[in-house]
Amino acid sequence: MSERTNAAATADAQTVAQASAQGTVRDSAQAHGLAQAAQVGEPGQLPCNFDATRTFQWHHKTVVAGVEWKNPVGTASGTFNFDAVRWFYDVSQMGAVTTKGVSPVPWEGNPVPRTAETPAGSVNSVGLQNPGIDDYLVNDLPRIKATGATVITNVAGHSDDDYAQVVTKLADHESDMLEINVSCPNVSADGLSTGTDPVALKRLIKRLRPLTDKPMIVKLTPNVTDIRPIAEACIEGGADALSMINTFVGMRFDIRTGKPILANITGGVSGPCVHPMALAFVYKTRQAFPEIPIIGIGGISTGEDALEFLYAGANAVEVGSAALADPVAPLRIATELDALLDKRPELAQALEEGRTW
Ligand SMILES: Cc1cc2nc3c(=O)[nH]c(=O)nc-3n(C[C@H](O)[C@H](O)[C@H](O)COP(=O)(O)O)c2cc1C
Repeated sequence: MSERTNAAATADAQTVAQASAQGTVRDSAQAHGLAQAAQVGEPGQLPCNFDATRTFQWHHKTVVAGVEWKNPVGTASGTFNFDAVRWFYDVSQMGAVTTKGVSPVPWEGNPVPRTAETPAGSVNSVGLQNPGIDDYLVNDLPRIKATGATVITNVAGHSDDDYAQVVTKLADHESDMLEINVSCPNVSADGLSTGTDPVALKRLIKRLRPLTDKPMIVKLTPNVTDIRPIAEACIEGGADALSMINTFVGMRFDIRTGKPILANITGGVSGPCVHPMALAFVYKTRQAFPEIPIIGIGGISTGEDALEFLYAGANAVEVGSAALADPVAPLRIATELDALLDKRPELAQALEEGRTW
């Protein structure tokens, strides 16, 4: 019988995540022991009572732009760190894993503080910190692919040339899909995010299209009045799929100082608070464009949240912020959705055939 409290188990989980991220875990046996310990919680208590060490038999796959996912749940960019989560679960069991945004050269990211809490979510301004495409191709992609995972590489850039360089370098490597993050400020679009300007967006996607045979997902920003002309620009430019949404612009103030909490002043809002808005973005896009594959993202914490995206017209989903609080959340959500799809054979059949509800 366990006397451990959920707080203790959570502390263990955090210790493992921190130790893994800092590279202080001695070896895989120690990491496994820590991960096992982190699983021990009182029944019904989150985040540690889900046994992520099992091998799952998925009943319901999906197909996104011709790529088969073994279940409809992927991880969302920037919230999945292979070196941290591989101690907790076999990442190849996800429908797909999406990497952090990769740029042509290393980016240092924004000054700290980079995150602020908000009810049912957070505001972040990490600034796409990453070691650059050359490092990614040597140190990250081969190791993630070696697990057997379906990998989506998220591509970041501050100019059209930046994106073109990264997409060209990825063309001959083993990433299964590319996800072009068009939310970054882009000098080729007068410093605005390309994702807010249909003309600049179509130009960018048209330029990238001939550089790769890999399925190209364009990840859309919600910081626009109407998503439909934006989606149309992507489709006309040659996108194979759309993913939505990235974060909403937001900020918080420290009321003791009267100053913004984030060093970058504003950041991106994510988490359960964005879920209803994200659903509306997917729904409106699906109504306007019945054929384009869509990956729904935003505030998913449970299988039910994911199922709502499928009813809104998504072919698959990605889980972001939930994984920051609980590293195994994406896998748990995949199992919950699999069980929900058991009772919805028509929807499950449509997904399996690459269609939607
Ligand atoms: C800390 C953090 C870092 C992120 N980094 C990226 C990134 O590098 N590229 C990207 O396209 N989206 C990035 N995102 C956005 C997420 O992938 C996702 O679209 C968004 O958070 C909404 O989903 P969620 O509510 O499930 O978190 C990031 C989000 C967070 C919270």
